[in-house]
Amino acid sequence: MLLSLHLFFLMLYLRLGHTSLPLVINTWPFKSATAAAWHALQSGGSVLDAVEKGCARCEMDQCDGTVGFGGSPDETGETTLDAMIMNGNSMEVGAVADLRRIKNAIGVARAVMERTEHTMLVGESASVFAENMGFAAEDLTTNESLNVFSQWLKGNCQPNYRKNVSPDPSTSCGPYGPKAAQTQCNGERQVNIHSHDTIGMIAMDTDGHMAAGTSTNGLSHKVPGRVGDSPIIGAGAYADSSAGAAAATGDGDIMMRFLPSYLAVELMRNGADPSAACKSAISRIKRHYSDFFGAIICANTTGHYGAACNKVPSLTEFHYMVADSESDTAVLKSVPCF
Ligand SMILES: *[C@@H]1O[C@H](CO)[C@@H](O)[C@H](O)[C@H]1NC(C)=O
Ligand SMILES: *[C@@H]1O[C@H](CO)[C@@H](O)[C@H](O)[C@H]1NC(C)=O
Repeated sequence: MLLSLHLFFLMLYLRLGHTSLPLVINTWPFKSATAAAWHALQSGGSVLDAVEKGCARCEMDQCDGTVGFGGSPDETGETTLDAMIMNGNSMEVGAVADLRRIKNAIGVARAVMERTEHTMLVGESASVFAENMGFAAEDLTTNESLNVFSQWLKGNCQPNYRKNVSPDPSTSCGPYGPKAAQTQCNGERQVNIHSHDTIGMIAMDTDGHMAAGTSTNGLSHKVPGRVGDSPIIGAGAYADSSAGAAAATGDGDIMMRFLPSYLAVELMRNGADPSAACKSAISRIKRHYSDFFGAIICANTTGHYGAACNKVPSLTEFHYMVADSESDTAVLKSVPCF
């Protein structure tokens, strides 16, 4: 009996080739999120539970004001949320985008996965779905987000994300019409650590089951209806337990054009080391947008992990969190950007 147990663990060890599983890894120094995910795993939860609980923690804590309610008001002052969750064993995904009035976006994403045959719901209809599934409808506006909004109005609606439009000439705010003759950029694009980040999380258990997820309130002063990379499968995150998992953060309008999380997972499938896979995904974007703001975390099937980021003045070093069986707690890691 004892011998067979030993054999069992030896085989498990050989199969996984690594002893520090389970593993939780997430973007940015969002320690409470890592701790919540780690706690979920330690109390017998699945990797999906870990990703959901971890991201939900950030939604309640309003991590840096960039996840959850009360942050990143759009052009009308409203906060809207994007989230996704992916099961790397079954390849099921649930995602929500432009979600209004519901604080627990990652919970709604999981409900889309588990209570519909669909993959993504958006906008007002996603909110109605969530309410029907028992999620509380609440105002996502706070004094802080109102303040950000009114400062922006006072500053003639700058920066903003419009281009080739003619605004109201007296304020340079909306309503915006199409510009007739000469095209000219009206808005001043300013994406940096303060206007955008996201929680992206990967969890992996001792059986090698992987899950990934994201949650964000997007970009301050975005055009209403704007959806970033976070809820887009393969862009914001991707998980395939037979290859690896990745999650990205940064300027989603740019990053989603390259499916960086999918790319990193495919590179790991072909044997790339996690750090190298992360770097290649960033390099692919750099080739077209050398000064984009963004970073990515990657983990392979043996629980080895890495991260990479594009070096810009506002991001020279990227911080992320890791918890595994060696640390048994959330540990801050960093990688220099290149
Ligand atoms: C928000 O502002 C209102 C009015 O200025 C004030 O009455 C209220 O207490 C504030 N709420 C919080 C949470 O600070
Ligand atoms: C995962 O990455 C580590 C570190 O590069 C490597 O030693 C290991 O072989 C990789 N695992 C797989 C399954 O590729």
